[in-house]
Amino acid sequence: MEFKTHISVQNLDVFYGTERALKDITVDIPDKKITVIIGPSGCGKTTLLKSFNRLVDSMDEVKVSGKVFLDGENIFDPKVEITHIRKKMGLLSQKPFPLPMSIYDNVAYGPRIHGIRDKKELGRIVEHYLKQSSLWDEVKDRLHAPASRLSLGQQQRLCLARGLAVEPEIILGDEPTSALDPKSSQRIEQRFLELKREYTIVIVTHILRQAMRLADYVVFLYLGELIEHGPAEDILVDPKEEMTKEYIKGIIS
Ligand SMILES: Nc1ncnc2c1ncn2[C@@H]1O[C@H](COP(=O)(O)OP(=O)(O)O)[C@@H](O)[C@H]1O
Ligand SMILES: [Mg+2]
Repeated sequence: MEFKTHISVQNLDVFYGTERALKDITVDIPDKKITVIIGPSGCGKTTLLKSFNRLVDSMDEVKVSGKVFLDGENIFDPKVEITHIRKKMGLLSQKPFPLPMSIYDNVAYGPRIHGIRDKKELGRIVEHYLKQSSLWDEVKDRLHAPASRLSLGQQQRLCLARGLAVEPEIILGDEPTSALDPKSSQRIEQRFLELKREYTIVIVTHILRQAMRLADYVVFLYLGELIEHGPAEDILVDPKEEMTKEYIKGIIS
């Protein structure tokens, strides 16, 4: 599988205090594909994902070494501005966290910060991203209702719309469907499959079947180590490493 690299991780180590959560991780994340990070609970999936937008080193007691290149720039270089990195990425977490404001204002939030004030333009932007998140039809008649009144599944799609509205290049999802019912999960998955034409997507999941539905590329972590990575059809169907084989068969979980 030939691909263009979007994020290049080189010899990444992350320590929480004295615990080494990631051990010498080196992997390239392909551009405009869905990469799925799999592995049992506690193996470092969230830590790896949060390294990409430098959320990981915003905590005390965290030590990071190694490099993460984003568009050729090492994001851990002290000269790099974190806001510049973060602007390139939208993050969906396990539970949706809409801002305590209306549906409309949630999506308009980022564009307003970037100086867009024109009502018509904001309206167009809000509509566009609500459509991209397949939420528009459900909310178009109540855009000024509080976001908190939406169902969890709708809130997660709203968070996706809010993230997309700042025009990121990369969408990061940390088990983004784990709080959702099957129907809502399916909707989010469907969105990812369409959005990968325009965005690089990295999803953490411990649900193997979700990995099978979504992944172009797979990264398998175990106890902080990168065991195996490669195209989904290799890793999920015919892995080389014994550890991966056992995980896929459900022996390790
Ligand atoms: N803020 C933190 N402080 C201390 N240890 C942490 C912190 N976050 C994660 N860890 C530890 O790092 C390891 C990897 O965690 P994590 O990346 O959350 O794994 P996963 O997402 O695969 O479940 C675990 O052993 C976890 O207990
Ligand atoms: Mg996690």
